[in-house]
Amino acid sequence: MCGIFGMIGKSNVVPNVLGGIEGLEYRGYDSAGIGYIEKNKVKVIKQVGEIKNLKTEVGRVNPVSFNCVAHTRWATHGKPNKTNAHPFVSTNKDFCLVHNGIIENYAELKKQLNCKFLSETDSEVILKLIEKYYCENMLETLVKVSKLLKGSYALAIISSKEPDKLFVSKMVSPCVVGISADGTKVCSDINGIGKVDYSYVLENNNFAVLTVDGIKIYNEKLEQVKLKKIKVEKSDINNKGKFDYFMQKEIYEIPNSVNNTVNLYQTFEQFEKVLPKTIVKKTKNIIIVGCGTAYHAGLMGRKIFEQNLNINIKNELASEFIYSKFVPPKNTLMIFVSQSGETADTLKALKIAKQYGLKTIAITNVKNSSISFIADYCFYTLAGAEVAVASTKAYVSQLSMFYLLASYFKEVIMDKIGLVESTANNLKNISKQINLTKFNILANNVANDIYLSQSLYMIGRNFDYVTALESSLKLKEISYIHSEAYASGELKHGTISLIDNNTFVFAFLTEKDLLEKSLSNVNEVISRGGKVILLTQYNLKSDNVYKLIKLNNIDEFYMPIVVIVIMQLIAFHVSVLKKLNPDKPRSLAKSVTVE
Ligand code: M6R
Repeated sequence: MCGIFGMIGKSNVVPNVLGGIEGLEYRGYDSAGIGYIEKNKVKVIKQVGEIKNLKTEVGRVNPVSFNCVAHTRWATHGKPNKTNAHPFVSTNKDFCLVHNGIIENYAELKKQLNCKFLSETDSEVILKLIEKYYCENMLETLVKVSKLLKGSYALAIISSKEPDKLFVSKMVSPCVVGISADGTKVCSDINGIGKVDYSYVLENNNFAVLTVDGIKIYNEKLEQVKLKKIKVEKSDINNKGKFDYFMQKEIYEIPNSVNNTVNLYQTFEQFEKVLPKTIVKKTKNIIIVGCGTAYHAGLMGRKIFEQNLNINIKNELASEFIYSKFVPPKNTLMIFVSQSGETADTLKALKIAKQYGLKTIAITNVKNSSISFIADYCFYTLAGAEVAVASTKAYVSQLSMFYLLASYFKEVIMDKIGLVESTANNLKNISKQINLTKFNILANNVANDIYLSQSLYMIGRNFDYVTALESSLKLKEISYIHSEAYASGELKHGTISLIDNNTFVFAFLTEKDLLEKSLSNVNEVISRGGKVILLTQYNLKSDNVYKLIKLNNIDEFYMPIVVIVIMQLIAFHVSVLKKLNPDKPRSLAKSVTVE
């Protein structure tokens, strides 16, 4: 959450920094600001709301600066107003700071400092500490101050006392520094750093000093450290192409995302290179961990694995696992799913798993993300940068990864040759069944039916129940319609009392063995006046349903991949019909880097 970007260059860097922060807007869009050095003085421009507001104000002031930092905020402490917006400037006007993360002991530090604070934020306390302890050397000051801080931070600081340097420090929150022909940069996201020759992903307690032509990185003993140089792949993070919204573009990219992911892991050998057979053979239990949509991908992953194998599998929400007293047995393999690879709860759960001495797998969409460095084995989904807050193509790619991974396990454990390859072929065929033009018309039509609803329900059994959970989350987060997903059989244990003549209920019936039971549940809803929107590939009697969405008759094992695309499109159209911005739902941010 929150994006930070900074650059020190040979010419005016303000446009670069504004462009940089724009690419990070998915991390938060409550307010934004830039801090810069002009004629050896620290100056700041801030605005409430999206970055376009800041850009208008910057256009009016027209600053020229070689050294500039910027911030886009997702409020954690204090309202999203101008006073709480970053950057913060010290009372003596010498220092300017942007922060991503949370200072957990800020209240205690505030008390100790006993001075006037302008904002309600935790971040301002860092600036006050810098002001108090400044010893004519920002690097040394920063090291001293960092010892007083508890929590997470990526900091970028400029100072009129040392105007030719940009200072950076990192603890937990992701932070990347990079070198380009035009200067050096810092960014809170590896995908957002833009054009650089190479970059360094900072580690905890690293301090970086950026000058126009170089970067020096130090540890807390002020010794210079050498990090691995990372080549950053070009990322089209700011480009919506022919689409009006990133979410729409990303849904249309789903078939390619599936194919690209499958191409990376379509043979047994490709799997073996990442995850040795010995590890698979030793595995007796699997725990799959994630948050939000990634958690739902894990729920589906469990069902996919269970169809294939006799291994105990559990799912855990990362934010719950970290407080659980349950210590997994030694032969447990833990799988961590995270699109961004930076979700704080997931990373904390991963670290706990490692402390238990368990083997860990990451499934992530972002190369060189924190999760990829920490987990023992890392599988990449190749969905490409996902910018819209609502996860779409990443989810479908995560499902594809689970189908492939489960077949690798089966091939190793049951000694059955060719399973990975046949699964890869199946997935490629399934991706051809995602007929976006048809789905889009259909989704728009359904969206028109439901967009004025206050509340609705989604039901399904087994795989379909997970689809209901994920579809419901999608609708909630971008349309603000209350939606509850229920296991079809559970409805009659309480929630059915909420169904009346105005209630829409989506019913997913894609599993042949469960049709009879699921149909009974649909009838229970219809009997109470509920308006059922039924999704199935089977020829069912549909006289009493409000709407029937007839799905293509594909192998039902892979149906979750197809159905969710329709549901993502429905959520998208509802959001647009309600005149909302599906890319930037209120109160949310793409990458949740705070616990
Ligand atoms: O980057 P991650 O996959 O770890 O993110 C996890 C969740 O924050 C994320 O899936 C969230 O639920 C999405 N906004 C859902 O669309």
